[in-house]
Amino acid sequence: LDNGVARTPPMGWNSWNTFGCNINEALIRQMADAMVSTGMRDLGYQYVVVDDCWFNPNRDSSGNLQGDPSRFPSGMKALGDYLHGKGLKFGLYQVPVDKTCAQYFGSYPGATGSQGHEAQDARQFAAWGVDFLKYDWCSPNGSIDQQVTTFAKMRDALAATGRQIVYSINPNSIHAKTGPQRNWGDVANMWRTTEDITNAWDTGQANGYPMGVQNIVNVTVPLASYARPGGFNDPDMMEVGRGGMTDTEMRSHFALWAILAAPLIAGNDLRSMSSATQTILKNQNLIAVNQDSLGLQATQVSNDGTRRVLAKRLANGDVAVALFNQGGAATTVSTTAAAVGKSGTSFTLLDAWTNATSTTSGSIAASVPAHGTVFYRVSGGTIVSPPPSTTTALVSAASG
Ligand code: GLA
Repeated sequence: LDNGVARTPPMGWNSWNTFGCNINEALIRQMADAMVSTGMRDLGYQYVVVDDCWFNPNRDSSGNLQGDPSRFPSGMKALGDYLHGKGLKFGLYQVPVDKTCAQYFGSYPGATGSQGHEAQDARQFAAWGVDFLKYDWCSPNGSIDQQVTTFAKMRDALAATGRQIVYSINPNSIHAKTGPQRNWGDVANMWRTTEDITNAWDTGQANGYPMGVQNIVNVTVPLASYARPGGFNDPDMMEVGRGGMTDTEMRSHFALWAILAAPLIAGNDLRSMSSATQTILKNQNLIAVNQDSLGLQATQVSNDGTRRVLAKRLANGDVAVALFNQGGAATTVSTTAAAVGKSGTSFTLLDAWTNATSTTSGSIAASVPAHGTVFYRVSGGTIVSPPPSTTTALVSAASG
C-alpha cells in the first residue's frame, strides 16, 4: 500500500502474546520505558501496539469509541502522547465485525466493531495520535471478496484522516485461511499469513490454530513475490523470549523472520528479558537484513524437507543467506554463490551471529544444529539479475 509508511517492515512490540486481556496504561508505559532503556528503540523498534481489550465495550452518546476507563484512566490520547514523548509510535487493535476475538470467545463483554463507523473511528484514532492500526477479521463469516471490500473501507477511512497510519490486517481469525490466498498489498501495509502463532516450534498444523514457527514458515515462504516497500507478509508477532523454544529455535525464529522481511513485532515481556533474548532481538546484522531498503522477502533456493536454503538480495548488492535445518539432528546445509544469485570467484561470508568473516570461492555451507539456522551475509562478486533462484521461486509460487 503506497500510503508513505512501512517502506521497510514495521518493528515494535505488541501486548497480546504475553498479556492477552491483562493490560492497562501502567503496563504499556513500562513496556515503552523498557523499549528505550534496553536500546531496542534505537535499533528500530518503534511501534507499541495495544492489542485487544483496550476499549470500553460501549460507545459514547455520539457513537465514538472510548478507552476502558478502568484500564486506561488517563485516556487513549494521553497514552499516545506518552509514547510519542519517548520517541515511539502508538498502535491499537480493532475489528470490523461485531466483536473482537476476545469478545467472540467471551472473555470481554460488549460489541464495538468499526463496520459502518469507519470514517468516525478512523478520525478518532487519528485524534488519539494512533500511528498503527491492527484490524482483525475475527468472524467465521464473509467471503474473501467481502473481506477485501471491508478492509478497503478502513484503508480509505485512514487515508482520509491525513495522518500516516500503518494498516495491519488479519484476514484469518476464526475464518477460512484467506491470508495466503491473495496479495493483500493493495489493501494493507501488512497482512497475516496464518492463524495465530503460539509459543512452540511445531504444532503440526498446515494452517490451522495454533501455529508454530516451522508451520508459519511453510505457509509464508511461497508468498515471497508479494513483499515490497509498503506491503509485507506478516507471519505474526514473535515468540522470542517466551520460554517455549530452545535458544537455537529462537535464533532460527528471529533469523527467519528477518530474512522473510517480516514485521519484527516482539511479543515478550520487555521488562524482564534474559541476555540470550536480548542478544537475539537486538542482532544488528539481522535487523539490517530485515530493514533493507529493497523490501524483498527471501526466496527459496532449495528445500529437501530437511535442509532449506533461503536467499534475500540486498540494496548494496550483498545477498543474505539462511541455511536452515528443519530436521531433528545436526546436518550440513549447503548452497553456492551462483545458486543465490552471485557471480565471481571470491566472496566474503559474514556470520550474522558470531560476526566472524571467512572467504569462499563459491561454496556456502555449514554444520547446522537441529532446528538451527546459520546465517551469512555474502559480499563480493557481482549480482546476477534476477538471481536464478528468484525466477524459479516466483514461477512455483504463481503456479502453486
Ligand atoms: C486474534 C489475533 C491475535 C490477537 C487476538 C486478540 O486471535 O489473531 O493476534 O489480536 O485476536 O483477541
